[in-house]
Amino acid sequence: MIHHFGRVEVICGSMFCGKTEELIRRVRRAIIARQKVQVFKPSLDDRYGIEHITSHDGQNIKAEPIAHSEELIGKLSKDTTVVAFDEVQFFDDGIVAITEQLASRGIRVILAGLDLDFRGEPFGPMPALLCRAEEVTKLHAICVQCGEQASRTQRLVNGQPANFNDPIILVGAQEAYEPRCRDHHIVPK
Ligand code: TMP
Ligand code: MG
Repeated sequence: MIHHFGRVEVICGSMFCGKTEELIRRVRRAIIARQKVQVFKPSLDDRYGIEHITSHDGQNIKAEPIAHSEELIGKLSKDTTVVAFDEVQFFDDGIVAITEQLASRGIRVILAGLDLDFRGEPFGPMPALLCRAEEVTKLHAICVQCGEQASRTQRLVNGQPANFNDPIILVGAQEAYEPRCRDHHIVPK
Protein backbone atom coordinates (compact mmCIF):
# COMPACT_ATOMS: atom_id res chain seq x y z
CA MET A 1 0.00 0.00 0.00
CA ILE A 2 1.40 3.41 -0.97
CA HIS A 3 1.47 6.02 1.81
CA HIS A 4 -0.45 9.18 1.08
CA PHE A 5 2.30 11.26 2.63
CA GLY A 6 5.92 10.49 3.32
CA ARG A 7 7.31 11.14 6.76
CA VAL A 8 10.53 11.03 8.72
CA GLU A 9 10.72 9.39 12.15
CA VAL A 10 13.90 9.55 14.23
CA ILE A 11 14.62 7.26 17.19
CA CYS A 12 17.55 8.57 19.26
CA GLY A 13 19.20 8.27 22.67
CA SER A 14 22.35 6.88 24.28
CA MET A 15 23.70 3.38 23.76
CA PHE A 16 21.65 0.60 25.46
CA CYS A 17 18.40 2.62 25.43
CA GLY A 18 16.64 0.30 22.95
CA LYS A 19 16.89 2.24 19.66
CA THR A 20 17.45 -0.83 17.52
CA GLU A 21 14.72 -2.76 19.39
CA GLU A 22 12.28 0.08 18.63
CA LEU A 23 13.37 0.23 14.98
CA ILE A 24 12.88 -3.55 14.65
CA ARG A 25 9.44 -3.27 16.30
CA ARG A 26 8.31 -0.63 13.79
CA VAL A 27 9.73 -2.58 10.84
CA ARG A 28 7.97 -5.79 11.94
CA ARG A 29 4.63 -3.97 12.22
CA ALA A 30 5.03 -2.62 8.69
CA ILE A 31 5.91 -6.09 7.37
CA ILE A 32 2.78 -7.53 9.04
CA ALA A 33 0.78 -4.90 7.13
CA ARG A 34 2.43 -6.27 3.95
CA GLN A 35 4.23 -3.03 3.27
CA LYS A 36 7.43 -3.26 1.27
CA VAL A 37 10.24 -2.46 3.71
CA GLN A 38 13.97 -2.05 3.08
CA VAL A 39 16.44 -1.81 5.98
CA PHE A 40 19.93 -0.33 5.65
CA LYS A 41 22.92 0.09 7.90
CA PRO A 42 26.40 1.57 7.51
CA SER A 43 28.86 -1.15 6.54
CA LEU A 44 31.35 0.04 9.14
CA ASP A 45 29.23 -1.41 11.96
CA ASP A 46 30.27 -5.05 11.68
CA ARG A 47 29.49 -5.98 15.28
CA TYR A 48 27.03 -8.79 14.62
CA GLY A 49 27.60 -9.83 11.03
CA ILE A 50 27.37 -7.56 8.08
CA GLU A 51 23.88 -8.35 6.79
CA HIS A 52 21.80 -7.86 9.93
CA ILE A 53 20.98 -5.23 12.47
CA THR A 54 20.95 -6.59 15.99
CA SER A 55 19.81 -5.05 19.25
CA HIS A 56 21.86 -5.48 22.44
CA ASP A 57 19.32 -8.09 23.57
CA GLY A 58 19.95 -10.21 20.48
CA GLN A 59 16.90 -9.53 18.25
CA ASN A 60 17.84 -9.18 14.63
CA ILE A 61 16.51 -8.48 11.15
CA LYS A 62 18.12 -8.45 7.73
CA ALA A 63 19.70 -5.19 6.59
CA GLU A 64 21.64 -4.11 3.51
CA PRO A 65 25.04 -2.66 4.39
CA ILE A 66 26.01 0.54 2.56
CA ALA A 67 29.30 2.43 2.71
CA HIS A 68 28.01 5.82 1.54
CA SER A 69 24.56 7.43 1.59
CA GLU A 70 24.46 7.69 -2.22
CA GLU A 71 24.59 3.90 -2.56
CA LEU A 72 21.13 3.76 -1.11
CA ILE A 73 19.37 5.31 -4.09
CA GLY A 74 20.73 2.56 -6.36
CA LYS A 75 19.57 -0.15 -3.96
CA LEU A 76 16.02 1.12 -3.57
CA SER A 77 13.30 -1.06 -5.11
CA LYS A 78 10.55 0.71 -7.02
CA ASP A 79 7.78 -0.62 -4.79
CA THR A 80 9.42 0.16 -1.43
CA THR A 81 7.22 2.27 0.85
CA VAL A 82 9.14 2.05 4.13
CA VAL A 83 12.88 2.67 4.46
CA ALA A 84 14.62 2.09 7.80
CA PHE A 85 18.23 2.90 8.73
CA ASP A 86 20.06 1.93 11.86
CA GLU A 87 23.22 3.61 13.21
CA VAL A 88 22.44 6.67 11.13
CA GLN A 89 24.98 8.73 13.11
CA PHE A 90 27.74 7.02 11.09
CA PHE A 91 26.39 8.15 7.71
CA ASP A 92 27.81 11.11 5.83
CA ASP A 93 25.82 14.37 5.62
CA GLY A 94 24.39 13.26 2.25
CA ILE A 95 21.89 11.19 4.21
CA VAL A 96 19.98 14.38 5.10
CA ALA A 97 19.08 15.29 1.48
CA ILE A 98 18.38 11.64 0.64
CA THR A 99 15.99 11.34 3.61
CA GLU A 100 14.13 14.47 2.50
CA GLN A 101 13.96 13.17 -1.07
CA LEU A 102 12.51 9.82 0.02
CA ALA A 103 9.92 11.42 2.29
CA SER A 104 8.83 13.80 -0.45
CA ARG A 105 8.32 10.76 -2.72
CA GLY A 106 5.78 9.39 -0.21
CA ILE A 107 8.13 7.03 1.65
CA ARG A 108 8.01 6.52 5.43
CA VAL A 109 11.63 6.89 6.60
CA ILE A 110 12.54 5.48 10.02
CA LEU A 111 16.00 6.42 11.32
CA ALA A 112 17.70 5.23 14.51
CA GLY A 113 20.96 6.63 15.85
CA LEU A 114 22.96 8.08 18.70
CA ASP A 115 22.16 11.74 19.23
CA LEU A 116 25.41 12.25 21.17
CA ASP A 117 28.90 10.80 20.84
CA PHE A 118 30.97 9.63 23.84
CA ARG A 119 32.00 13.25 24.48
CA GLY A 120 28.39 14.40 24.75
CA GLU A 121 28.60 16.29 21.43
CA PRO A 122 25.97 15.97 18.64
CA PHE A 123 26.85 13.01 16.42
CA GLY A 124 27.33 13.47 12.64
CA PRO A 125 24.12 14.19 10.68
CA MET A 126 21.82 13.62 13.68
CA PRO A 127 21.06 17.29 14.51
CA ALA A 128 19.95 18.03 10.93
CA LEU A 129 17.82 14.87 10.81
CA LEU A 130 16.20 15.52 14.20
CA CYS A 131 15.17 19.02 13.14
CA ARG A 132 13.63 17.84 9.87
CA ALA A 133 11.78 14.83 11.28
CA GLU A 134 8.00 14.85 11.71
CA GLU A 135 8.38 12.62 14.76
CA VAL A 136 11.24 12.27 17.25
CA THR A 137 11.45 9.54 19.89
CA LYS A 138 14.17 10.06 22.49
CA LEU A 139 14.73 6.91 24.53
CA HIS A 140 16.71 6.60 27.76
CA ALA A 141 18.86 3.87 29.22
CA ILE A 142 19.59 3.58 32.97
CA CYS A 143 22.74 5.08 34.47
CA VAL A 144 24.99 2.27 35.70
CA GLN A 145 26.26 4.52 38.51
CA CYS A 146 23.05 5.83 40.10
CA GLY A 147 20.05 4.14 38.48
CA GLU A 148 18.57 7.41 37.16
CA GLN A 149 17.73 7.97 33.47
CA ALA A 150 20.83 7.87 31.25
CA SER A 151 21.09 10.33 28.38
CA ARG A 152 24.82 9.97 27.74
CA THR A 153 27.23 7.19 26.71
CA GLN A 154 30.43 6.76 28.72
CA ARG A 155 33.38 5.35 26.76
CA LEU A 156 35.91 3.48 28.89
CA VAL A 157 39.46 2.63 27.87
CA ASN A 158 41.03 0.11 30.26
CA GLY A 159 38.30 1.00 32.72
CA GLN A 160 39.07 4.75 32.58
CA PRO A 161 36.96 7.52 30.93
CA ALA A 162 38.10 8.17 27.36
CA ASN A 163 39.63 11.55 26.61
CA PHE A 164 37.76 14.29 24.71
CA ASN A 165 40.40 14.14 21.95
CA ASP A 166 40.10 10.41 21.29
CA PRO A 167 38.72 9.34 17.88
CA ILE A 168 34.94 9.69 17.63
CA ILE A 169 34.32 6.37 15.91
CA LEU A 170 35.02 3.20 17.88
CA VAL A 171 32.63 0.35 17.14
CA GLY A 172 31.86 -1.66 20.27
CA ALA A 173 29.39 -2.57 22.99
CA GLN A 174 29.61 -3.32 26.72
CA GLU A 175 33.37 -3.83 26.72
CA ALA A 176 33.91 -0.16 25.86
CA TYR A 177 30.69 1.70 26.67
CA GLU A 178 28.09 2.16 29.40
CA PRO A 179 25.01 4.36 29.76
CA ARG A 180 25.26 7.22 32.25
CA CYS A 181 23.30 10.27 33.35
CA ARG A 182 24.62 13.80 32.89
CA ASP A 183 26.12 13.87 36.43
CA HIS A 184 28.09 10.64 36.05
CA HIS A 185 29.27 11.22 32.48
CA ILE A 186 32.99 11.99 32.60
CA VAL A 187 35.08 13.35 29.73
CA PRO A 188 38.59 14.48 30.69
CA LYS A 189 39.79 17.24 28.37
P1 TMP B 1 24.15 1.37 19.54
O1 TMP B 1 23.63 2.76 19.61
O2 TMP B 1 23.38 0.48 18.65
O3 TMP B 1 24.40 0.80 20.87
O4 TMP B 1 25.57 1.43 18.79
C1 TMP B 1 26.38 2.53 18.78
C2 TMP B 1 27.66 2.25 18.01
O5 TMP B 1 28.41 3.48 17.94
C3 TMP B 1 28.61 1.26 18.69
O6 TMP B 1 29.26 0.47 17.69
C4 TMP B 1 29.66 2.13 19.35
C5 TMP B 1 29.73 3.32 18.43
N1 TMP B 1 30.11 4.59 19.04
C6 TMP B 1 31.11 5.35 18.44
O7 TMP B 1 31.69 4.95 17.43
N2 TMP B 1 31.46 6.55 19.00
C7 TMP B 1 30.83 7.04 20.12
O8 TMP B 1 31.17 8.14 20.55
C8 TMP B 1 29.77 6.24 20.73
C9 TMP B 1 29.08 6.75 21.94
C10 TMP B 1 29.46 5.03 20.15
MG1 MG C 1 21.62 -0.31 18.21
